[in-house]
Amino acid sequence: MKEQLFDTSAKHYDDQFTNSLIGQRQRQRVYAILREKGLLDGSRLIFEFNCGTGFDADFFFKMGHSVTATDASEKMIEQCKTARNSSIQFYPLRIQDATHDQALENANFVFSNFGGLNCLNKDELKEFIELLSRKLKTDSQLAFVIMPKHCLWETVYFVVKGKWGEIGRRNKNLAQTVNVNGEEVPTFYHSPSELNRLLRQDFTLSALRPIAFFLPPSYMEPFFSKHPWLLGILNKFEILFSTWSKLANWSDHYMLIAQRK
Ligand SMILES: C[S@@+](CC[C@H](N)C(=O)[O-])C[C@H]1O[C@@H](n2cnc3c(N)ncnc32)[C@H](O)[C@@H]1O
Repeated sequence: MKEQLFDTSAKHYDDQFTNSLIGQRQRQRVYAILREKGLLDGSRLIFEFNCGTGFDADFFFKMGHSVTATDASEKMIEQCKTARNSSIQFYPLRIQDATHDQALENANFVFSNFGGLNCLNKDELKEFIELLSRKLKTDSQLAFVIMPKHCLWETVYFVVKGKWGEIGRRNKNLAQTVNVNGEEVPTFYHSPSELNRLLRQDFTLSALRPIAFFLPPSYMEPFFSKHPWLLGILNKFEILFSTWSKLANWSDHYMLIAQRK
């Protein structure tokens, strides 16, 4: 496989995001909602796209689920195989190439966390949802965590920094380049309504939740690591307003849960 985006950041990804104060809190919110919606109950066959370093795969495995976790970056998969439980099936796979994947067909829960789907453009996202419609059986669940087209924190940040040209940068149809640990990653932002439109024919939407409306984006870690008490307060608000789906379109990420009809 040729070199993929995120190959160069794979080694530092956990230090920069997974283990950061902000990253940990954002991920805890994802787990809290999965728990609340009963998606961690019982024993599921989980298929994860864009698993990164495999932190979530390991978490699901420890909860007693069977896990297949994939990522386009071979370097990410190498990290997974080194750091995570060897009973988890990890292999490199681009979302766009999942057409003949047997583990996906067997799965009853499909998961994509923290913006992997923002690496797909509109057409690729549509094709991906169509693929899931074809492959997944009735009652299978999916949970996606995606970056929307607006983010209140980001707008305030750009105003304070005087970066006027950056305001509204998410709300574009063309790819925006995001610097991930020194790597320029083309990123497409997708609104909850766009996802809803793509899903509604074959899936029933069961939850739309903000992830990090009050919690800040992870690039604000240098500031918040000096003021962890402030992050603690924001986290309390995050929990308090977690069910306000209207905030999803203005958060750093949002979480969408749906069930195959
Ligand atoms: C921001 S990271 C998220 C990683 C992980 N899900 C997490 O929660 O930390 C995005 C991941 O998406 C993967 N990715 C990007 N484009 C992809 C594609 N077309 N197919 C599969 N994975 C992709 C990257 O390699 C990277 O590991």
